Amino acid sequence: MQGVNFRESWATRMGFILAASGSAVGLGNIWRFPYMTGEHGGAAFLVIYLVAIILIGYPVMINEIIVGRKTNRNPVGAFKALAPNSPWWLVGALGVFTGFVILSYYSVVAGWSLAYIYKVVLSTTAAEIDHADVFIGHITSVWEPIIWQAIFMILTISIIAAGVVRGIQRWVTILMPALLVLLVILIIRAVTLPGAGEGLTYYLQPNFGDVGPRTFLGAISQAFFTLSLGMGAIITYGSYLRQKDEIPGNAASVVGLDTGIAIMAGLAIFPAVFALGFAPDGGPGLVFITLPAVFAEMPMGVLFGLLFFILLSIAALTSAISLLEVVTAWLIDEKGWSRGSAAVVMGIIIFVVGLPTTLGYSVLSDVTFPGLGMDLLDTYDWFANSIFLPLGGLLTAIFVGYIWGARNAVEECNRTSGFICLGNWWIILIRYVVPVLILTIMIMGIYDTFFGD
Ligand code: PHE
Repeated sequence: MQGVNFRESWATRMGFILAASGSAVGLGNIWRFPYMTGEHGGAAFLVIYLVAIILIGYPVMINEIIVGRKTNRNPVGAFKALAPNSPWWLVGALGVFTGFVILSYYSVVAGWSLAYIYKVVLSTTAAEIDHADVFIGHITSVWEPIIWQAIFMILTISIIAAGVVRGIQRWVTILMPALLVLLVILIIRAVTLPGAGEGLTYYLQPNFGDVGPRTFLGAISQAFFTLSLGMGAIITYGSYLRQKDEIPGNAASVVGLDTGIAIMAGLAIFPAVFALGFAPDGGPGLVFITLPAVFAEMPMGVLFGLLFFILLSIAALTSAISLLEVVTAWLIDEKGWSRGSAAVVMGIIIFVVGLPTTLGYSVLSDVTFPGLGMDLLDTYDWFANSIFLPLGGLLTAIFVGYIWGARNAVEECNRTSGFICLGNWWIILIRYVVPVLILTIMIMGIYDTFFGD
């Protein structure tokens, strides 16, 4: 049914909110947010991140939804429709490329989560176990993570091949409430562990002493990543909006839910980190090491552990499908491919491109990018989230603010009204605040990463 001329829309008003929250809420909230906070000193990072969400994340989310709803196109087609015969479509192409890179390593981490559905059972029932050893043992073994990465990609491809409503919308409806409930249970257990107070202080009492350019770059990279911004996922999901759906209220719901879940993940993790004697700057392994240790301290911990990693895997899946959907929509709209072949062919290529990041913990562990000193997964993550996403968001803001015209965007947005209306506040944010903040933070942060000490 999905020929070049037929394009699906979300089936209900909640469809967009659910799918966009499904895209936003994922490993970014539960895996990346805590370890970024831990690596950047705790509460001070949290504060800067929240400011970035309000001043950059929210206006940019509105911006991308407007472009999507206005054009009903994938990111490349959207720029072509708004600025024909100009090179601006390259911004859309940058987005498609970035989605490709992110999914290639996202599927690796999602594969860890899938594997932990059974690993957590083993590690919470064993009497004496070193949770860090279990995690490192898993990621440094060559084949196991690759197999789970492949399984995760197959799941993602199958959902995208099934289409927007039957595939995406159906899945996200049940997940969110379940994840929320489980997080609350985890928070209660974590904050009542003896010694949890130190973790709460670390997480909630800012100390701006160690804040530097890298903290700000980390915060905007996290803001873009967690809200799925800067690479066209929200343009694409916005393009499936019906013309009567409103925008700023929908965007506020998505941003609010996503931010709430990230803050809750921190509340579940930092008290436990300190109470159980882990280091907060443990990097990408943080969640996989700390939470199993918390489960081991709980009555029915096995059950909760199992549930948690099932939900985390589903949350990762509803984000991964939005990454694959961007590439797929581009091939369908622009190149006339069928949905099925676009999803399968791109899915396989993305899997192969992701292989070095998983092998970076085993056979390729000596390979690093000059000047960065990170493993390969962190390197992919750094380029995608510290460079490509903010750059995509910046260029889209400049495009709408100055080329297509901020007034046109406001008019298009206010064509439908909800409880928030766009006005000069948004124009000032999108034309001045967003570009100036992103540019300054990127330049200083990148310089500091390569040349700072
Ligand atoms: N927002 C997702 C997460 O937090 C990741 C993502 C980034 C999804 C960019 C789509 C686009 O896990």
